[in-house]
Amino acid sequence: DKGIYPYYMLKEVDEQAIVARTLSQYYFDDEGQVQNIAPEIIEAMQAADRIYIVAAGTSYHAGLVGQRYFEQWTQTPTEVHISSEFAYEQPLLSKKPFFIFLSQSGETADSREVLDNITKQGYPTLTIANVMNSTLTREADFALPLLAGPEIAVASTKAYTAQIIVTAILAAAVGHTPFDLKNELAKVAVEMQVIIDQKDTFKSIAESALKHRRSAFYIGRGLDAAVAVEAALKLKEISYVQTEGFAAGELKHGTISLIEEGTPIFALLTQAKTAGLVRGEIAQVAARGANTVIIAAKTLAKKDDSFVLPGVNELLMPLLTVIPAQLIAYYATLDRGLDVDRPRNLAKSVTVQ
Ligand code: M6R
Repeated sequence: DKGIYPYYMLKEVDEQAIVARTLSQYYFDDEGQVQNIAPEIIEAMQAADRIYIVAAGTSYHAGLVGQRYFEQWTQTPTEVHISSEFAYEQPLLSKKPFFIFLSQSGETADSREVLDNITKQGYPTLTIANVMNSTLTREADFALPLLAGPEIAVASTKAYTAQIIVTAILAAAVGHTPFDLKNELAKVAVEMQVIIDQKDTFKSIAESALKHRRSAFYIGRGLDAAVAVEAALKLKEISYVQTEGFAAGELKHGTISLIEEGTPIFALLTQAKTAGLVRGEIAQVAARGANTVIIAAKTLAKKDDSFVLPGVNELLMPLLTVIPAQLIAYYATLDRGLDVDRPRNLAKSVTVQ
């Protein structure tokens, strides 16, 4: 039930801080030790020489973030694959692979096809999904719940943030984090709420940057490039503004030729190592007439930036950065008088290949 909300999407965006808090309560005990992850999962992952994350759409984008956690905290090489590609072009696998299927619904046919193939090859599999008792959770060796509560809007929001949190906790359980993840996630939950409470800002950004626009871009480097592809998917799938998200360094290799007077470019800037380079790329598109909207972390922000994100651990920044993108997509769609929850041609769960 939507309750006081005009659309499920807005309700589900709002619920993200609660989901983050719930997850840290469910997965950590009072001492900060990870619980509720079966030791068999941890042992199987520790025995693996490579992790393969397989997913579609927004879940694939969450995998691009999760990959960093597995590589940095477990020192295990990790690959992320689009399920519809992997199903028919299986790459050469390592000797001891471990497979993670990320899914909101647990019913995505493309991912089921891969799970089927991998099960036949006898490799260990784990599904992380929001719908437990779905096909993907039943047919994998192991399953972990996202605990995000029902997600009804076609545009996935809280499942994405929950997937990032659960992969972070899993990576911490398999390896170790150089900081207190439980504490940091508690901080993230508080800051998520702070951003969610600034809806009017995103409404006015959406209306001023995207009115009558037919195309837009999201750029960033590193983890910001990973969020950029999700941000672009959110905007295009519900508002029909053709949006590309990509690594900011790629602009000069082709895409910059698309920039015209007023082209909206949303720049995500949360990673210290590359912030200077991204600033340079922003200046290049601005010089060609782009309307730049800069969403920057507090420590990297400048006076004229459009939105300043609170500071949390850099690796967890995607949990904050995505919220402005979700809300900008929401308000741009509303402004166009479209049905936010039910974009044309799309189904909530894609059960055909
Ligand atoms: O249920 P799943 O997470 O497996 O679904 C995968 C995609 O179909 C899904 O994330 C889709 O991209 C969303 N509509 C994006 O908002």
